[in-house]
Amino acid sequence: MNTQARMTTDIDVDEFRKIVRSRRSVRRFTDEPIPDAILDECLDLAMLAPNSSNLQPWEFRVVRTPALRDRVAHACLGQNAAKTAPVLIGIVARTGTWRDHSRRAVDEWPGESVPPIVEKYYRKIAPLHYSQGPLGAFGLAKKMLGAVTGLRKPVPRGPYSPCAMRVWAAKSTALAAENLMLALRAHGFDSCPMEGFDAWRINRLLDVPDDGDVIMMLAAGRCGEKGIYSQQYRFNRNEFVHYL
Ligand SMILES: Cc1cc2nc3c(=O)[nH]c(=O)nc-3n(C[C@H](O)[C@H](O)[C@H](O)COP(=O)(O)O)c2cc1C
Repeated sequence: MNTQARMTTDIDVDEFRKIVRSRRSVRRFTDEPIPDAILDECLDLAMLAPNSSNLQPWEFRVVRTPALRDRVAHACLGQNAAKTAPVLIGIVARTGTWRDHSRRAVDEWPGESVPPIVEKYYRKIAPLHYSQGPLGAFGLAKKMLGAVTGLRKPVPRGPYSPCAMRVWAAKSTALAAENLMLALRAHGFDSCPMEGFDAWRINRLLDVPDDGDVIMMLAAGRCGEKGIYSQQYRFNRNEFVHYL
């Protein structure tokens, strides 16, 4: 299926443009629910996002029950998007799943046999690369070693601390979040990513594991009346795009 999708030549760029351009952060939703099948498909598409070493360090905690939704909306500082959305999704980046996922990347390899280079990567290189050791000591040792060997040749410069691991997980998870927003839009639904929330309360309400960071809460549903607050604008591209 993936290979076939990759070979598809009849991709309509106008449709893609339409999806990207029509996505807006919506702050007021109607109470129309998102059908389960559509939400499931959007989450499947989210999980097709590119991610570091295919270690899939994300999790999606979907809140639909009204009672919990109200409490989660309250923890989202009572923002209109959270108060009106039929679905709230905690988008969680996890730093503690990579070891298990490294094993599974080999065990669940889709081909007949695992290529030796893949096996070596997940069994030897990934554990070396992502382990930080107690109190980050191993990460620090790798950083110092890298600084010395890096004088002569290019070397990886991280992630070499627990904090860098959080950035590592957040990068891939944010890409999944964008896939999710665009997939919702493609189905005619809308969303609002939110970082305005009380993380302490959200972690408890969503039962987020200790190694999890809710990188954003996503409010999702159908755009309601006056759901878009203002015209979309961006700064001049010449300040941000540099051809070297
Ligand atoms: C990481 C992140 C956090 C955001 N947090 C909030 C938020 O807490 N509340 C809100 O109303 N919008 C939030 N937004 C939406 C932005 O304000 C919005 O994307 C931006 O103003 C551009 O508008 P557009 O998404 O309609 O293009 C957030 C967006 C991102 C990517």
